[in-house]
Order: sequence, then structure tokens, then C-alpha cells
Amino acid sequence: MIRVEGPSDQVHVAKMYEAGQGHVFDDWDDLDAGCRRMLLDQVASIDLGRLQRLVRDHLDAGPAPGAPVFLPDPASWIPIGGELNASARAEVAGVEALERGEIGIFLVAGGLGTRLDFSGPKGCYPILPITGGSLFQVFAEKILTLQRKYRRPLTWTIMTSPNNHEATQSFFSANNWFGLPPSDVILRTQGVLPVVDPRQGKILRTGPDRLMVSPDGHGGAVEVMQSLAGEYRSRGIRHLFYHQVDNPLVRTCDPTFIGHHINENSSFSSKAVAKRSPEEKVGVFCKIGESNRIIEYTELGDAEREALNKDGLLTFRAGNIATHVIDLDFISPVGSSSDIELPFHVARKAVRHWQEGASREADFPNSVRFERFIFDLLPQAPKTVIVEADRQQEFAPVKNLEGSDSPDQTRKALQRQWADWLEGMGVELERSDDGSPLRTIEISPLIATDAKETAQALEGRTIPDDGPILLN
Ligand code: UTP
Repeated sequence: MIRVEGPSDQVHVAKMYEAGQGHVFDDWDDLDAGCRRMLLDQVASIDLGRLQRLVRDHLDAGPAPGAPVFLPDPASWIPIGGELNASARAEVAGVEALERGEIGIFLVAGGLGTRLDFSGPKGCYPILPITGGSLFQVFAEKILTLQRKYRRPLTWTIMTSPNNHEATQSFFSANNWFGLPPSDVILRTQGVLPVVDPRQGKILRTGPDRLMVSPDGHGGAVEVMQSLAGEYRSRGIRHLFYHQVDNPLVRTCDPTFIGHHINENSSFSSKAVAKRSPEEKVGVFCKIGESNRIIEYTELGDAEREALNKDGLLTFRAGNIATHVIDLDFISPVGSSSDIELPFHVARKAVRHWQEGASREADFPNSVRFERFIFDLLPQAPKTVIVEADRQQEFAPVKNLEGSDSPDQTRKALQRQWADWLEGMGVELERSDDGSPLRTIEISPLIATDAKETAQALEGRTIPDDGPILLN
């Protein structure tokens, strides 16, 4: 065992050895004082008890089980165009809540974004087709427009992780917070957990003085929300509009969605889109016993995945788009502690790691990371509501560098939407086979976030007959 001076360092080091994690000090003799300090600080920040429980529960249990034995029912949702009166009432309730300043916005942006292979935080990705404006810019401009519309400040929480926090903060600062008052933007870092090897649960390292850690999943948002509950209440916030950093089509603070949540007294509400095909890889809302939950598409048996209802539509078709409204009292009850406990899931990936004095690549899943998912709140929520959203209008996530869910596809989806708005105003546009306009279009959310606002914005403006159309 290595020898260290301070009593608290001695305790942490002893505990690491006891837990079978002494290998993290293998290169101790080669480290200078600064690197030793860094390693000891990292070791002290680890909740070893939790890590041991995770390893015991997830690794010793053997391979993950296949399709579950229960038989789910499809979850019911409020369909697009369903019950017009209820929708109208919902819109009024949502607008009123926004006017009273009861809605906060919560963006999860702590993910690693490995599939996109972009060097900075995903929110900095230049998604706008003409100006190259970022995803963060799109969200910020939507918020500025909402503030103008409802004459209320809106608190925007952005959950980062240690790997992208500083870069996110610098990006906002360099962009002058996109015109938002910095006091309305709260950047909070989510928790991390050590990454371990799949056989023995040993903590992997990225260097001789560095443990490999990974953000604890978008479910880490629950702890961040709980830590901010007092702050939210002092600002009058009662519900959080939650969304992901990858979807610039998000209808931020959609009043009808918020109103359904309020009118149904829901604790956790979700938007869903109809799945394109049985094979589409999205989580699906279903009902198990009395509660709604989301299951991975792999958890549905073939028969269920392909089953059709009497209208010829997929029985299990409510695909999760990770847009929610969450009640603050549900996440953090006043006067009592929360009994919410999100389960952990494991992800197995091939990673480069430090072993025997060198950084080594792997061509097989040599690592296990532990993550919690926000949608595991569903079965714990006393009341939930699912509202159908129109995919064309609301969902085009940036996930992969190329192919499906790539920036190229997202830009096309944005441009199809902007073209619809312009055509609604009588502007004539030619389109390609997939519906994308042949002219490049970009409409800043500062100008318009829907067709109606486009109409107002276009009053007195002339659209040129050819070339790109930029409204900002
Ligand atoms: P994804 O599941 O797409 O993961 O996250 P990712 O890490 O961004 O990308 P890949 O899988 O490495 O390519 C969905 C949303 O959840 C957030 C992401 O930032 C994104 O908005 N997220 C994910 C977190 O905030 N923290 C996490 O630990 C994981």
C-alpha cells in the first residue's frame, strides 16, 4: 500500500485497497507532487460504497436479461387533434402558467456526444444552415422570444458535466450569453461515476494519475433539480420544461403541453411521436400494470414490435423524444425528503485506457459505465400524461456525424419547417423529392418560432426572388 501523509488521505487510500481498487496507485512512484495530489483528490471524490453496490448488482448478476417476462400494454396518449376543447383549455392554462412565471427550462447538455465526434460540447455545434449559429444559440433565442411574448423572465438551467462545463461556460461568455441576463442562466454540473472493467469491476484509468469517470446519465438531472429546488421556489417556479441539447426543433415551453400537464395534475409529462417503423430505435411508452414506463425497443418481442391495431397503426408506436414537463413538488416535496430512486443501467463500450504504463486501445467492450435515465421517473410518478407531437414539426435530433439523425438531416428538417411557414405566407419555393427547399433558408427564433409569428415578421419585408433566405 502506498504511504501518504494526511489522515484523511490515509483513510481514502486504505479504503481503495480494501475495495480491491489499489491498482489505481500503480504508477504512484513516477508521479510528481502535483499529480499525486490530483489523484488523491479524485479518489476522495468517489463514493466507494455506491460503486461496490453497482458492481455487485450489475456485474456479478451476469449478462443483462433479454426480453422481459411481463406483457406490456400500449400507453394511452393525447393524440394530435384529439378533443379540441381539452386542447384549447390546456393552451389557456399553459399560457397563464407562463405569464405567472411558473415555468423554468431545464436543458440536459452533459452527455459526451461521442457519436457526433465534435470537439466541443454538443450545444456549440454550428447547426444553422446560413449563419452557422449553434444549438445553444437556437435555444437561447427561443427563450428570448418567449420572454418577450409572456413578459416574464425565464430561468434556464443547463446541466453540464465536468468534461464540458468550462467549455460551455466560456462559449456562453464569449457569446455574451446570447443577450440573456446571465442571472437567468444557471449552469450546473452533473455527477460522475467511475468507469470499470466488465469482469472484475476495477476502476479504469485514462493516465497514470487519472481515473476514468463518466457522467451519470441524464437521470443525473434529478439531483441537480433537487439541489436547485429552493432557488426555483424563490423564483416562483413550479414546473420544469425539460429537453435535450440535440433537438433544435423543440417547441420550448409549448403552452398546450404545459397546460395538459397542469390540467391533468400530472407529476411527469412527456411528448411522444409516432414511430416510423417497428425497427426504429427509440424507447417506447407502454403500460405495465398500472404505471406507464418507457422500454427500449429491444425489450419488445418481435410480435409486439410489429403488432398493428385496428386502424393498421403500430400498437406500440409512442416513441420517446425526451421532452417532459416535471413538477417541482414531485421531484422535491416541500417539507420532506424525496423518495425518488432512479435505477442504474449499464453501457458497455470499447475505450482507450491506461494499463501497465501505456495508453491502450480496445477492439471489444472493455468498459462498463453506469447511467441513470430521466424517464425512469415515469413509474414513480403519481400521475403521468403523454401528449403526441408531430415529428416533422418538433423532432430532428443531432446524434450521428452522418446518415440518420445527422446534422445534415436536422438542417433539412429545420428548412422544411421554415419553408412551410414561408409558403403559408404565399412565398413560392421549389422543393426536392424529400420536401427540402432548393433555396437555403434560415429563420432565427428571434424573428419567428412558428407560422403565425413568421406572418407577423414578414409584414413589410420582401423576400428576394432567388438566393438564400435569411431572416434574423
Ligand atoms: P445521448 O443519449 O444522445 O448521449 O444523450 P450523448 O452522450 O449526448 O451522446 P453519445 O451517446 O455519446 O453519442 C441525450 C441527452 O442527454 C444528455 C445529452 O447531453 C443529451 O442532451 N445527457 C446524456 C446528459 O446530460 N448527461 C449524461 O450523462 C448523458
